[in-house]
Amino acid sequence: MKRIGVLTSGGDAPGMNACIRAVVRTALARELEVWGIRYGYAGLIRGEMEPMNRGSIANIIHQGGTILGTSRSPEFMTREGRAGAIRALEEAKIDGLVLIGGDGTFRGGTLLQEEGGVDIVGVPGTIDNDVYGTDYSIGFDTAINTALEAIDRIRDTALSLDRLFFVEVMGRHTGFIALESGIAGGAEELIIPEVATRIDDLCRHLKASFQRGKRSAIVVVAEAGQPGNTFRIAREVKDITGFDSRVCVLGHTQRGGAPTARDRILASMLGTAAVKALINGKAGHMVGEINKDIVHTPLKDTWEEKKELDDDLRELVKLLSH
Ligand code: F6P
Repeated sequence: MKRIGVLTSGGDAPGMNACIRAVVRTALARELEVWGIRYGYAGLIRGEMEPMNRGSIANIIHQGGTILGTSRSPEFMTREGRAGAIRALEEAKIDGLVLIGGDGTFRGGTLLQEEGGVDIVGVPGTIDNDVYGTDYSIGFDTAINTALEAIDRIRDTALSLDRLFFVEVMGRHTGFIALESGIAGGAEELIIPEVATRIDDLCRHLKASFQRGKRSAIVVVAEAGQPGNTFRIAREVKDITGFDSRVCVLGHTQRGGAPTARDRILASMLGTAAVKALINGKAGHMVGEINKDIVHTPLKDTWEEKKELDDDLRELVKLLSH
């Protein structure tokens, strides 16, 4: 192996830059050339790539977003699109590819590998933390801390005005962000897609909590594939209980910002592990961290298997929120 490529794909996540830096530095230390591919699979199809050196990754460890740019590429999900990507890799003489992204990225990577025989290693980078094969994905820690800061701020105003608040967090179809930011923020209630929530039950809990003397409450709601749906939930709660409330949708604020120390360290470890995996014949896998160990999970499993929420954390919410 002489030349490898690196790309970021899907939603950006804080820490992706730290990971790119680790990939480039590790590759150069092993005397490999590294090419940075711009705008994920869309840029790969267009052949947008350039050699990277130490200067390309100077002073980026603390920056959110991704210096390579990213995209969601419907074209790559077609066979013709992938054929274009394979051609671009052949023309650039790239023998191995590091993909930094989430389950959609690895679904595409699996096809690229099957159809083009490309050596691929994945690195989990998504704020959603919904990738099977790692305890945490790059960006999740920063996102939950961003959400937590917002929840804390909302608590100040909720307490001052005796108000009920609904705070909507990201996570696509999963409740990882809601669960951890909700526990850390002392949320009174959580609504996550993994647990069926009946509005009647939610209203009963909220009423009981106000009867016990609480004068304000925060309900953390996972977007669950329907951003903005929290406004509907708040209206339904008002219809049943008469409780007036405010809704705050945190949205893309959770994707930006400087990565936390944890995300920078995870990104550095996994970026280095990805290059080593390519060199050591571990292509076709995603590198992840489970119980502090670096693990290699077949790329296909990362999107075919479902990552479950931590049951102990779910129990904790029930126990501590009332
Ligand atoms: O996958 C990361 C994520 O931020 C999800 O939490 C969210 O549902 C989605 O991306 C939003 O994507 P976009 O920025 O393309 O609207």
